[in-house]
Formats: sequence, structure tokens, C-alpha cells
Amino acid sequence: MSIDIIKFDKSIPKHIAVIMDGNGRWAKKQGLVARLKGHEAGAETIRAVLRACDKTGVRYLTLYAFSTENWKRSKSEVAGLMELLRRFLIKNTDELIEKGIRLRAIGQIDRLPDQTRKELERSIEKSKNETKLDLILALSYGGRTEIVNCIRRISSIVKSGELNPEDISEETVKQNLYAPDVPDPELLIRTSGEMRISNFLLWQISYSEIYVTEILWPDFRENDFYEAIADYQKRLRRFGGV
Ligand code: FPP
Repeated sequence: MSIDIIKFDKSIPKHIAVIMDGNGRWAKKQGLVARLKGHEAGAETIRAVLRACDKTGVRYLTLYAFSTENWKRSKSEVAGLMELLRRFLIKNTDELIEKGIRLRAIGQIDRLPDQTRKELERSIEKSKNETKLDLILALSYGGRTEIVNCIRRISSIVKSGELNPEDISEETVKQNLYAPDVPDPELLIRTSGEMRISNFLLWQISYSEIYVTEILWPDFRENDFYEAIADYQKRLRRFGGV
């Protein structure tokens, strides 16, 4: 099985969103005590998926890297994840730029520890002119929080008198989400078998195809990404109308 299972004359999703789940279970299965070892292996999988995006021409990739709920994990796991993200950015930003990748982030970025946030802002700034692929990291992200923020923003526009409540449309909502220019994902991938949305992109996934695989995120490879796209293409053939 390889990239050949994808039909390039059929639609390739422009935007793929991924719930990267199973790092902790992977570490346990390997007999590793530290869950962080699973997150480290998971960071390597991100590099593999970026290669797969490059080869298939996916234009936007959104990764659920840290949810608003993840703050409840142990202090050491949270600190470890934040440090891993910082090191990931230091190690990979130049290569991202070489590959034409623009780094972006959605979520409560101001809640990240200073050093991680500064590194993130640096990478975002350095890569801002790249146009081949937008890599969007969802960090301290929650779909409900995003919608609450959106309601607050729209309410203040209404309060200022610039907008009538009757004129609020789906487009108004879209324009006030974290990344208004990004099209909705056609495909949502979740690893490690759980059949849940877990507060991810609640507004944006209304019409997304959902692909769940049993594979744990650190074991997920380029070929598994191609399989998800091929499955998506089969569904389009079945339900795509005339
Ligand atoms: C879910 O696995 C994964 C996370 C909460 C974090 C995802 C982070 C990475 C893939 C690596 C770091 C990211 C970057 C951008 C460098 P889990 O811990 O919930 O696994 P479990 O369900 O098996 O316990």
C-alpha cells in the first residue's frame, strides 16, 4: 500500500483536521512509564504527516495538539508537553520554511507559558509568507470556547451599532472564529479508535467526513494518511450525487 491508492483525478481534501490521540497508550504498550515518551514519538509522526501533505497537495492541516481540557493533566505532563512544543519549534521551523509551510495557531495562545509562546510567535512570524501548506496548531483550544469568543465579538459589534441582530449570518459567525480565512475541513481523522469529537472545531466540522483508525498516533505513518484520503475519496464516489 502506498500513495498509489489515492486518485489524483478525484478530489483531494483541501483541509484535513486531525485528533492526534493515543500517545499515552502507546507509551504504556512500549513498557514506558513516562507518558511524555509517547508525546515525543507523536511529534515525529507530525513530520511524517507533513511529508504526506506535501506529496498529496493538502493545503491546510489542523492538528489538535493541546485542548482546553488538557490543562487538567498532571503538572509534569503539561510542562513536558509545553517544553516539547518549544523544542519542536526550535528544531523544525527552518525546515518548515524550506518546505513552504506557514505555521499558525488557534486557541488561547496567551495561556501558554512565556517561553513556549514566544517561540511559537517567532515561528509564526518567520513563516508567515509561506503559501504551500498552512500547519495550524490547535493549542489550549476548545470548540466551545471558540464559539463563546465569537459570540462576545459579535455582541460587541452589535452593541456598537454597526450590526443589526437580524443581519447576523453564518458568514458573520465564520468571520469571528479564530481563523476566518481557513475553509472548513472536508476530512477529520482521529487516531486510536475513540468515536468522539472532544470539543474540536465544533462549528467547522458540520459537514466533514470522519475517519477513525485504531492506530495509535505515534504508530501512524504516511501510508495511513493516504489510506484516510483514499477512504474519503470512496465515500465521495458513493454519495457524491450525479
Ligand atoms: C493525545 O494523546 C495527545 C495529546 C494530548 C497531545 C498531542 C501532542 C503531540 C502529538 C506531540 C506534541 C505536539 C507538538 C505540536 C510538538 P493522549 O495523551 O490523550 O493519549 P492516551 O489517550 O493514550 O492517554
